[in-house]
Amino acid sequence: MPKARRRSTHRSSRFEDMALPEELLAVLAEQGLDRAFEIQEAILPDALAGRDVLARAETGSGKTLAFTLAMTARFRGRKVHRRRPLGVVLVPTRELAVQVVDTIHPFARASRVRAQLVAGGMNIEKQAEALRRGVEIIVATPGRLIDLAERGDLFLDRVETTVIDEADHMADLGFLPDVRDILAATEMGSQKMLFSATLDGQVEQIVDTFLVDPVTHETTPVAAAVTTMDHHALAIAPSAKREVTAALAAREGRSLLFTRTQLGAERVAQELVEVGVPAAALHGNKQQGLRTNVLAGFREGAFPVLVATDVAARGLHIDDVSMVVHVDPADDVKEYVHRSGRTARAGAAGTVVTLALPHQVKSTRSILEGAHVESIWADADSAGVEAIAELGGRPPSGEPAEDPATVKHKGAPRKLDLSRRSGASTRQAEERRANEERRASWEEPSQDVGRGGRGGRGGRGGSGGGAQRGASTRGGSSAGPSSGGTRSRGARGGSGRGDSEERGGGQARGGRGGQGSGGRSGGRAGGQGRSGGQGRSGGQGRSGGSGAPRRKGSR
Ligand SMILES: Nc1ncnc2c1ncn2[C@@H]1O[C@H](COP(=O)(O)OP(=O)(O)OP(=O)(O)O)[C@@H](O)[C@H]1O
Ligand SMILES: [Mg+2]
Repeated sequence: MPKARRRSTHRSSRFEDMALPEELLAVLAEQGLDRAFEIQEAILPDALAGRDVLARAETGSGKTLAFTLAMTARFRGRKVHRRRPLGVVLVPTRELAVQVVDTIHPFARASRVRAQLVAGGMNIEKQAEALRRGVEIIVATPGRLIDLAERGDLFLDRVETTVIDEADHMADLGFLPDVRDILAATEMGSQKMLFSATLDGQVEQIVDTFLVDPVTHETTPVAAAVTTMDHHALAIAPSAKREVTAALAAREGRSLLFTRTQLGAERVAQELVEVGVPAAALHGNKQQGLRTNVLAGFREGAFPVLVATDVAARGLHIDDVSMVVHVDPADDVKEYVHRSGRTARAGAAGTVVTLALPHQVKSTRSILEGAHVESIWADADSAGVEAIAELGGRPPSGEPAEDPATVKHKGAPRKLDLSRRSGASTRQAEERRANEERRASWEEPSQDVGRGGRGGRGGRGGSGGGAQRGASTRGGSSAGPSSGGTRSRGARGGSGRGDSEERGGGQARGGRGGQGSGGRSGGRAGGQGRSGGQGRSGGQGRSGGSGAPRRKGSR
């Protein structure tokens, strides 16, 4: 096994020496947090002063707490206005929205403000009711936010701070139109803060159009190498893949395995269960309740292996994940960085393994080079070889394990019906829920319907040039991250991918972006007038207007 390394995350000032209100210091102390991480210390003065901020810091470096402290300190004790929050945090997935709102809650409570989850796949009426009563901070996935705004339950004209987490991803073609609409509905000049471990030129359009004289804080190059992470690559024959995957998954400790497709995730999880490794799949083409149940079970340690698509690649923090396995190699450097970043967080050690079939060796080498990591390569054509044993791998028992996806875990939705778990019955259940879920699903294109399944999103992605829409209306202000020389290295700027989530189950790898297959209830109709290059002017609607973002195109 790789040796554990010393904590290397830079820890700087004590929180109590920073300009933070007593109430927040008390919560930090309760949580055992003593010293700020580097990005927290770096952004806080600017964030508290209301400046626009671009923040890049490696995975697991505490970006969530950075914006949480800034927002709750700024809004402390402020009067609430019904339907009109003061702060918005935009994130790409429902799971991340839940995690972020959970992080914010204790600090919000201490500051006498309320934080509310606004995310698809969950009861919209409850979210609307909370907004009607009044909340200061919302943590939202873009589609559900827009739905609520269109119902008249949410106005953004009083928003003083908008945080875009995973901002480079949110500026990708799949999310950009919604994000632009949302930003356009906030007051011009209100604070915007963009965060990501791989913040790069991808966010330029947002920066140029919506930010004013932003200050950039970078604690890492764009292709961040977390120093406590070990990188391995195993060159394997196709015939060995199943056995090698099972041997790695059977190791002691918690492992997160990534596959390229939803079907792949289901298949690998099933195969692992059959040979005795309790594993469950997480992907977008699953009812939200099942997603929540699986993640809750994995978080609480009820089973050791989660097999996920890229729905789990960004932002999710799960304690003690000591190994990430790219069962299907990442497509690009950014995907590699984010998937890998689910381990070795906050100074902990972690191991990352990529399984490379013969035709994937070259691209894997170039991704590892692009990520600027030192990697250890080995040939592993059977699970018995030394390389796998060194990683802690061992043959599984061979006796089928209980399938963790059939168990209700602590934290699962109360009404979860596991009998509808799979196959046709799930599809029927989802059809029945289509009216309520349809819109909700749009916000996580991908989470719900597979990469291509967002229909228009995938289609839209086909035109990389679409990213050019929205010319800058405010020259001069872009101290955007693209200006720093280290950026975009190896990353696939302007990818046609639409979003980081999944391709439809099992679909071929080539031609991503243009594919519209695999959709559940249709998603958005292909392209629906929102496709790239439609050329909406960047400044449109920025005067605040009604404060309600509008979704363009038909439904
Ligand atoms: N000052 C601190 N001291 C100790 N632990 C901290 C501190 N700040 C944050 N953490 C912990 O670090 C972990 C990772 O934080 P977080 O999820 O915010 O990372 P991130 O930078 O957003 O990563 P990603 O790029 O993957 O989203 C969390 O468990 C959090 O509680
Ligand atoms: Mg994060």
